[in-house]
Amino acid sequence: MNITVLMEKVYQTLKLVYMANPKEVQIKIIGINGSPRPKGNTAQLFDEALQHAWQNGAETTRYDHKRLDIKGCQSCYQCKEPGKEGACVIKDDMYQIIDDILSADGVVFASPVYMWQMSAQAKLFSYRIFLQASPAKGDL
Ligand SMILES: Cc1cc2nc3c(=O)[nH]c(=O)nc-3n(C[C@H](O)[C@H](O)[C@H](O)COP(=O)(O)O)c2cc1C
Repeated sequence: MNITVLMEKVYQTLKLVYMANPKEVQIKIIGINGSPRPKGNTAQLFDEALQHAWQNGAETTRYDHKRLDIKGCQSCYQCKEPGKEGACVIKDDMYQIIDDILSADGVVFASPVYMWQMSAQAKLFSYRIFLQASPAKGDL
């Protein structure tokens, strides 16, 4: 998806929610920049998307991977254990980010292209979403 399509989707989502409840709703958008350069090319497009959301009334929060402590998934599967669902053994900045994402209406996830893929930094983040986003251990 390119940035124009992404920005249009953010805008359409905001518009739909405002139309449903114009006065009371405060939309929350979380932005994660998976580039190691907080002022690089990715950041310019990323800022544009967040600014667009903000100009349309959303509360926005920006995270830059460069300024975060996010470790790699340990594949321990504790987050899939009954009674411990969603709890990660790694205590780092992902705790705050997961909380923010769960209370958000939308997430803007940006990454530069590295070797035809998302960056390793963006992947670190995406693997840690595993605790919320994938099937239970027995289903894998
Ligand atoms: C390790 C590395 C791998 C890259 N691989 C690709 C690639 O596969 N295709 C591409 O078009 N650009 C590639 N690039 C160029 C970056 O995608 C480009 O410079 C991008 O704008 C960097 O984003 P940034 O300014 O947020 O760091 C690569 C750059 C680096 C450092």
